[in-house]
Amino acid sequence: MKKGLIVLVALIGLGSAAVAAEDGAALYKKCATCHGAQGEKAALGKSKIIKDLGVAGIITALKGYKDGTYGGPMKGVMKGQSAPLNDAQIEAIAVYIAK
Ligand code: HEC
Repeated sequence: MKKGLIVLVALIGLGSAAVAAEDGAALYKKCATCHGAQGEKAALGKSKIIKDLGVAGIITALKGYKDGTYGGPMKGVMKGQSAPLNDAQIEAIAVYIAK
């Protein structure tokens, strides 16, 4: 049991190291269906063009969808998309989209 816990802690440690070098391109893949390969499309014809929001704007939007402080009429769609992402992943995605 104790050994299992140590292995678990080690895995979590590795996980956060991986997150620090989080791959924005890989994380963005599931977003591209709606937002376009470069973030150049209005998702479902409704969203802003996200590549034009800038890094800070994208981070504000994604964190806001998560905690309910941001969004338009279709924010429910993005709540589901942003909920599983941690801060490091959100930042990696933002840098990738806005580049
Ligand atoms: C099922 C389609 C869909 C997917 C998949 C999706 N989005 Fe969205 N996204 C939308 C819609 C629709 C909106 C506009 C929501 C609203 O009314 O606020 C939006 C809004 C946004 C915004 C803010 C733009 C604005 O209009 O203010 C950002 C940033 C964003 N999405 C990023 C992402 C990222 C990053 C992912 C992947 C983790 C993702 N989206 C996945 C449909 C999608």
